Amino acid sequence: MFPRDREVLVTAALPYVNGECHIGHLRTYVPADIFTRMLRKLGYEVLFVCGSDTHGTPIVFSAEAEGVSPKEIVERYHEHFQRIFNALGINFDYYGSTDDESNHKRTQEIVRTLIEKGYVYEKKVKLAFCERCNRFLPDRYVEGKCPYCGEHARGDECDQGCGRHLEPGEILEPVCKICGSEATFKERTHYYFKLSAFASQLEDFLRNLDGTPNARNYALEWVRRELKDWCITRDLDWGVKFPSREDLVVYVWVDAPIGYISFTEEALKRKSDNWEQAWREIWKESKATIVHFIGTDIIYHHCIFWPAMLIAAEYSLPNAVVASGMVTINGKPLSKSRGNVVWVADFLKKFHADTLRYFLVSHSSHTKELDFSWDAFKTRVNNELVAILGNLALRVLSFAQKHFGAVPEGELHEEVLARIQTAREEAVKAIFAYDFKKFVDASMKLADFANKYFQREEPWHLIKGGEAERKRCGEIVKNTLQLLKAVCVLLEPVMPSKMEELWSQLGMDSDIHAVGIEEMTVPLKSGQPLGKPKKLFERVP
Ligand code: MSP
Ligand code: ZN
Repeated sequence: MFPRDREVLVTAALPYVNGECHIGHLRTYVPADIFTRMLRKLGYEVLFVCGSDTHGTPIVFSAEAEGVSPKEIVERYHEHFQRIFNALGINFDYYGSTDDESNHKRTQEIVRTLIEKGYVYEKKVKLAFCERCNRFLPDRYVEGKCPYCGEHARGDECDQGCGRHLEPGEILEPVCKICGSEATFKERTHYYFKLSAFASQLEDFLRNLDGTPNARNYALEWVRRELKDWCITRDLDWGVKFPSREDLVVYVWVDAPIGYISFTEEALKRKSDNWEQAWREIWKESKATIVHFIGTDIIYHHCIFWPAMLIAAEYSLPNAVVASGMVTINGKPLSKSRGNVVWVADFLKKFHADTLRYFLVSHSSHTKELDFSWDAFKTRVNNELVAILGNLALRVLSFAQKHFGAVPEGELHEEVLARIQTAREEAVKAIFAYDFKKFVDASMKLADFANKYFQREEPWHLIKGGEAERKRCGEIVKNTLQLLKAVCVLLEPVMPSKMEELWSQLGMDSDIHAVGIEEMTVPLKSGQPLGKPKKLFERVP
């Protein structure tokens, strides 16, 4: 549980806009959206922000490969991601871009503060340089051997070996990614952030950090082992200029998380004139609960580098970092270059967005790896959404419609109310444990109970009996409808569009997205006309 009187800021890691959205990305955004929707149901005031990560070498690299400007790439995929998020019902209060003016400003302000406080120093480093291309090779422009484990690595991370973040100049046997020739090392002055000075403060911060244990534990291990200072400048044109050095931009991992701060500002500006006070309370006075949703691959950046920067520049620290396990496809790492990828846009041409949302949280616990395969997807949809939830809805709604035409008269049974109560408690507990699988499991368990209850009470026999039996029949139907209503409220965060359909089939005229959790036990009104029952989910062939 979070403190009731504090606003909650939920952020989702900013996608690099150098390519299309794949299902791996969604393991950050879907749970973040579910979390936000559920907090709102619980009565919290929540702000949910995200935006495009527009800088860094992957984008410049893609642009050069296509022979267009980075801006063109960024605009193209910025729109693409927004379209995908809309289609999936991922509703940010604000979706910005790290290339927006407010983020340039905020980044420069923070970097200046770091310089003024003495946390930035100059250092001469030997960097990979390509003689043939006549340029320095930052990050993704170079590949070579990891100095720690010897595996083949990218310039900025050992992505196939030990997973370490690599500092400029660390990579061995560098090869230029543009022309393929062997690079040399050339000396150059860059700027470093004194990350090593923050070890003990980071350790304190991490010990109290809420969120998933993987984030906290990995980070604690790194802090205890060794912290290296971070080079925060790069030889690029595209990015946020380093103060008073026109030839350098700041490293993308400086201006990207600062996006969380500037997007909060933009979100609040759109809400009220008094935005500055609200913004200060969140980012300067630690008066809000800040929760970051990310994937395991960027724990280092969010649990080490980012909080150190926040401490140094005197900003509020996050309260929780929620890190998902990685998505694999058919047992292998998702890889665009190897073609082992499922694009969300392709997926949506064939299946409903909510089935993907459901799959992504029900198939494995949040911190574990999640393996996508078409078989696994089919099994989950057919055996759970169709066989349990869809079947329940169609069965009870059709029966009710046929014999009563409206919600029948009758009291709610203790057994039914107790089940709803238990499901609600389990779901709330799961959400604050960031266990989204447990959350859906609790909801589906309630749907499963509703099916069994309906089956056990055999209303189809009762309806043929005398007055007392018909009355009893109405009661059973009403109780089953109540269970369905409760399931609908609980699953709205997971499948917002399908549950909206179900809500209107139940004859409810309120806004399912706005009702609170207590609606689960608010009795359906007897006599309330029911909507037309319609199949909720299609079988996956
Ligand atoms: N731009 C950075 C994040 C900056 S946050 C200040 C980035 N972008 S990304 O496009 O590569 O990833 C966006 C989100 O998707 C991240 O949370 C990342 O962990 C997640 N995922 C991308 N591929 C993934 C999988 N294959 N599996 C699970 N999540 C993955 O990182
Ligand atoms: Zn390595």
